[in-house]
Amino acid sequence: MADAVITGLRKTFGPTVAVADFSLHVAEGEFVALLGPSGCGKTTVMRMIAGITQPDRGEISVAGQRIETLMPERRNIGLVFQSYALFPHMTVARNVAFGLRMRGVPAGQIAAKVAEVLAMVDLADHGERLPRELSGGQQQRVALARAIAIEPPLLLLDEPLSNLDAKLREQLRDDLKALQRRLGITTIHVTHDQSEAMALADRVVVMNAGAIVEIGTPRRLYQTPQTRFTAEFLGHTNIIPAQVQAGLMIAPWGQVLGAAPSATGLLHLSVRPEDLGLSPSEDGVGLVTEVTFLGAEVEHRVTVGNLRLRARSSGQGAAVLPAGTKVTLSFPADLHLLAKSTAP
Ligand SMILES: Nc1ncnc2c1ncn2[C@@H]1O[C@H](COP(=O)(O)OP(=O)(O)O)[C@@H](O)[C@H]1O
Ligand SMILES: [Mg+2]
Repeated sequence: MADAVITGLRKTFGPTVAVADFSLHVAEGEFVALLGPSGCGKTTVMRMIAGITQPDRGEISVAGQRIETLMPERRNIGLVFQSYALFPHMTVARNVAFGLRMRGVPAGQIAAKVAEVLAMVDLADHGERLPRELSGGQQQRVALARAIAIEPPLLLLDEPLSNLDAKLREQLRDDLKALQRRLGITTIHVTHDQSEAMALADRVVVMNAGAIVEIGTPRRLYQTPQTRFTAEFLGHTNIIPAQVQAGLMIAPWGQVLGAAPSATGLLHLSVRPEDLGLSPSEDGVGLVTEVTFLGAEVEHRVTVGNLRLRARSSGQGAAVLPAGTKVTLSFPADLHLLAKSTAP
């Protein structure tokens, strides 16, 4: 089984705790994305798995073998890192062949393998070029070809798409996903871009300040985040405090939001902008302060008391309510509560 089991990884740099305590099981063939803001420890986790950074403690197994004490080149892991560029003086083919030559694969087999993986990344006839003769996107394809040429049980990708412009990033993202699916290669991908993580990954690991905040499928994390951090990092959301009274959840402006799941206390709801409904009404509690046309969607900013909310509607017929319009708010029937321990 080419799965990866990471247990209790920790890394400090002087007083900085880069990674506090990281544990994760990636199943064979699974695509997992580490998602979090800059500086949260993503790259440090990847470098420890690759063997470039020595962990303070923790265990790493790939395909059932403990690897944390092995030299990087003995770990047999495919890497595409931002900082792990192509060799500029070598042709594309020699770059891709590099790992195979290091492993003493016979020349005839190397040529066949290089041709095979270059074809997989649509660069079959670019083998004799130098990296500088390729576009950024093509160079990243070569880096990917180089990583998969050794047929590693585990592929690590650290922000491989970040230096590309938006259109190309999306194209390469789709190609990457298709290739990963086809090869069934167990993959850990790092990004700070939530839409990239959601588009690519079977499961997303949300990180903050050196720790895992939450792990789940993109859908689960988007629809039912347990924490405010996840709710706000995966797109936009409205956090609404609600007081429980007589079995009902009451908004600060007095509106009954629904039946309360627990007896008493203050709860926090996360309501996505697309789930918040607005209707114009003279005695509405909300006031539209701003309306923005986003192409596929219209976004309204609404204030209610001291809360500032965001509502989005989509489609050709989406109503546009000008600033100054008074509105009533409507909420979905299946309201989503944040876990109490992480309430703001
Ligand atoms: N070699 C290093 N020396 C000192 N501090 C480091 C080093 N590498 C990373 N850090 C610190 O560790 C934290 C996590 O960094 P990193 O893993 O690169 O985060 P990310 O990839 O999520 O942006 C940051 O505070 C960073 O400044
Ligand atoms: Mg990084």
